[in-house]
Amino acid sequence: MSGAEVRVSSPAKINLSLGVGPVRDDGYHPLATVYQAVGLYDEVVVRATDGSPVLTVSGEGVDVAEVPTDGSNLALRAVAALGDHHGRELPVELHVHKRIPVAGGLAGGSTDAAAALLGADVLFGLHTPREELLGLAATLGSDVPFCLVGGTALGGGRGEVVTPVMTRGEYWWVVVPDSGGLSTPAVYREFDRLHGDDPAPDPEVPDELLAALRAGDAVRLGAALVNDLEPAAVSLRPDLLHLLRAGRQGAALGALVSGSGPTTVFLCDGPVHAEEVDRTLRSEQGTRPAIVVKGPVPGARVTGGHR
Ligand code: C5P
Repeated sequence: MSGAEVRVSSPAKINLSLGVGPVRDDGYHPLATVYQAVGLYDEVVVRATDGSPVLTVSGEGVDVAEVPTDGSNLALRAVAALGDHHGRELPVELHVHKRIPVAGGLAGGSTDAAAALLGADVLFGLHTPREELLGLAATLGSDVPFCLVGGTALGGGRGEVVTPVMTRGEYWWVVVPDSGGLSTPAVYREFDRLHGDDPAPDPEVPDELLAALRAGDAVRLGAALVNDLEPAAVSLRPDLLHLLRAGRQGAALGALVSGSGPTTVFLCDGPVHAEEVDRTLRSEQGTRPAIVVKGPVPGARVTGGHR
């Protein structure tokens, strides 16, 4: 078995709408979100080993200095959780090749965990039923189940209850990478602080956003994009506001902080428009070259390997 490997490709996600309710007793916030998986992928190689679990990481246009390589890495924890579930050791070496900006609000760490879960399941021939894999994914993080499912989906609960949504067409996004100092818990804490004694209402997905997706209408979708975490992300990173304003005042069809940020995404009506938006943001806002992607794309999937 030693030397056998499975390769998995797993996408970044954005939240087209992110409704956030008042903090629960367990410290999480109830969400009503619409996820979309977009064509920017990390690759995870899961290899059988005789030794103890190891993780290595490489980056393509991405700074990976902050990615933990010890047992706290979510991908290693995913394999350990799968092993516990089956009551056996799953000795693996993981290699994570990152293209998704780290700590940017694009679910990079979550998608690596989804990839490791799927890869280890296939490598060891465990045939874990889909519902059980999704259950394990939910224990690892709120976004991990969606990264297995992909496409466009509603997220309920704390984000882990995923229901696919029918959509038409494809959507082009300019992703302006940013990993500048926003941690997810800090953004949620700021959300609580901003609400103070005035609790957030129960979260909802806007009907108009779902109607736009059903119609395949990018202009309507652009006007319906919403993220309840945006005021908190902007409060911690005020410079993001200029960028979002530029996107909203003509450059793009709509603009969003991605998840808890600080990456921002801009909806465009096709690849040519996306190049224009990227150029405009770079010249007027001084942003780094963006990543142009389209969605929806499938969730984590096996792309190769050998026994
Ligand atoms: O689920 P995950 O481990 O990715 O969440 C990371 C952190 O984000 C949580 O510890 C919590 O602080 C915050 N969070 C939250 N409500 C959610 C999802 C995440 O408060 N629905």
